[in-house]
Amino acid sequence: MKSKIKIAEMDFSAPQYEIRSFNTINKPLKTVKTSGKAKMAGMNNNRSVSIHEEITTVLFLSLTVFALTEMVGLFNSAIIVLEYPFSSIIPMIMVFFGILGLLGILTDSRINIIIALIAVILELSILSMILVTNPMVSFLIPTIALQVLLISLSFFGFMTIFRQQKTQTDRFFEPEYERETDLAIEIKNLTKTYDLGEVQISALQKFNLEIRRGDFIAIMGPSGSGKSTLLNCLGALDRPTEGEILIDGINISQLDDEGLAWLRNKKVGFIFQSYNLITRSTVGQNVEVPALVTPLDTHRRKKKALRVLDDVGLGDKYYRNPNTLSGGEQQRVAIARALINDPAILLADEPTGNLDSKSGATVMEILQKLNRELHVTLIVVTHDPEVGSLADRIYYLKDGMNAGFKDNIKI
Ligand SMILES: Nc1ncnc2c1ncn2[C@@H]1O[C@H](COP(=O)(O)OP(=O)(O)O)[C@@H](O)[C@H]1O
Ligand SMILES: [Mg+2]
Repeated sequence: MKSKIKIAEMDFSAPQYEIRSFNTINKPLKTVKTSGKAKMAGMNNNRSVSIHEEITTVLFLSLTVFALTEMVGLFNSAIIVLEYPFSSIIPMIMVFFGILGLLGILTDSRINIIIALIAVILELSILSMILVTNPMVSFLIPTIALQVLLISLSFFGFMTIFRQQKTQTDRFFEPEYERETDLAIEIKNLTKTYDLGEVQISALQKFNLEIRRGDFIAIMGPSGSGKSTLLNCLGALDRPTEGEILIDGINISQLDDEGLAWLRNKKVGFIFQSYNLITRSTVGQNVEVPALVTPLDTHRRKKKALRVLDDVGLGDKYYRNPNTLSGGEQQRVAIARALINDPAILLADEPTGNLDSKSGATVMEILQKLNRELHVTLIVVTHDPEVGSLADRIYYLKDGMNAGFKDNIKI
């Protein structure tokens, strides 16, 4: 597989993550855009955030520099210090809060930013008071003007952060060429050939599939029949040689790298047979990885991780190392990780393949619950007929081709 598994740097319109509000799923018709402009929209989002971050950093740097120069100025003007001993403390406080503000940016803590902002407002009030009570110190006027400017800028910056947290729209796709569909996935003539120089391995040949939103589909077939290749193409971990994949009507071959990263991170959750957890990190850190690229701050990220861990029954394992957990628990951590960005589609490649039957059953219960209660479209590749029997429909694959399907009648 050529493409790296890349965690997305997209979708900065991330909502106040509410796992129970799968915003795309229950809408009967989702309108999406399938033009090349989708790329642009994504890139614009990306750019606006980095510019915003730069502005905020520069802002607080200038606050600190401003406070520092003010202090130096005060040391030079002994008269002022003598006359207003009170005012020499203020710049020092400013330096302190300036540094706090900077730390706020570095540690992603909004509280520090707010404190720094309040400090500037306080200083401004004090300076204004001095000016009002003693009009002789008119040299303070430029300082005050500068501070008014800084406050307005900080306020503007802060509101921008705040608004970004609030908007809950998929800005990545603007409805231009609208396409209405109730299909979560459409696969048309999908062909994947691995070129190994002398030999060419045909993993998928003109494979077709349509999956409606909220369906639970099992994919079965002998080893080497192309099941993993299919899932990897669906999750944009691999590129097809030919054919089309539409996810929510979006033709994913039209997406650039950023768009694909967005898809992998936000739209689709992936669960692997061998969990693929980072064993050097804690359970919590593992779950939070896909959320690192969203605007969630440390605190919200942790809150969200704890909630998805709770959803898979591992709320108390946040600080544990994955190695200290059983296989079933590790797979549940992987499910939590797949859920953290509220994906509409979950792809699971033999999720119970490495598990004993009891842990496997627990994992399947969780996946089924996500499908039934949150209407996540669930696609599970499996060898296990029991797992297959849980699905609404089983599609069979043979030599990379469609080999029929079977509907499971549920009582
Ligand atoms: N990265 C790869 N390079 C070359 N051949 C591959 C690669 N991945 C899969 N294949 C081949 O493609 C075919 C389908 O593999 P795969 O999708 O893993 O099947 P399954 O998951 O059904 O066991 C197999 O013949 C396999 O050897
Ligand atoms: Mg496989």
